[in-house]
Amino acid sequence: MKNNKPSIKQTFDISAGNFSVAGSASSRIKNMLKRIGIDDKIIRRVAVATYEAEMNIAIHSHGGTLCIEIFPDVIIIVAKDKGPGIKNVALAMEEGYSTATDEIRAMGFGAGMGLPNMKKCSDEFDIQSTLGVGTRVEMKMYNKE
Ligand SMILES: Nc1ncnc2c1ncn2[C@@H]1O[C@H](COP(=O)(O)OP(=O)(O)OP(=O)(O)O)[C@@H](O)[C@H]1O
Ligand SMILES: [Mg+2]
Repeated sequence: MKNNKPSIKQTFDISAGNFSVAGSASSRIKNMLKRIGIDDKIIRRVAVATYEAEMNIAIHSHGGTLCIEIFPDVIIIVAKDKGPGIKNVALAMEEGYSTATDEIRAMGFGAGMGLPNMKKCSDEFDIQSTLGVGTRVEMKMYNKE
């Protein structure tokens, strides 16, 4: 579709449960977008969406990757992990739904707002999840001039 246009692409490995570095991929993405002069409003949306995606991989999954590709007219973010997958995606998308443990909640996560906020920050949002296989979230933010 947009594959014939020049783009900048970066992929970050996100390990499971590594809270000391969790958030670093999204902050590096934010700095990169600032450096190349992307609109502040879009940067804020991408920063929230990538942070929530990164934390979900770190907290809820066995690890995965966060990939961002910047085209002149759209920013595409793909968060992919190696399982365990989500049993009920519709439920997971509801505000306030969380399976986070007390330990995770004590660290300030588990409000059940990550996925709904990722959707709100996106112009296009798609989530696919298969139990035992993994979860893939794709978000597009239109890079309006
Ligand atoms: N990558 C994932 N792998 C497995 N389960 C996930 C994944 N992402 C989300 N979930 C499930 O969906 C639920 C809702 O996710 P969401 O990000 O909205 O809330 P949360 O992570 O629990 O809390 P918050 O994001 O507000 O800190 C999670 O509690 C978890 O059960
Ligand atoms: Mg979350």
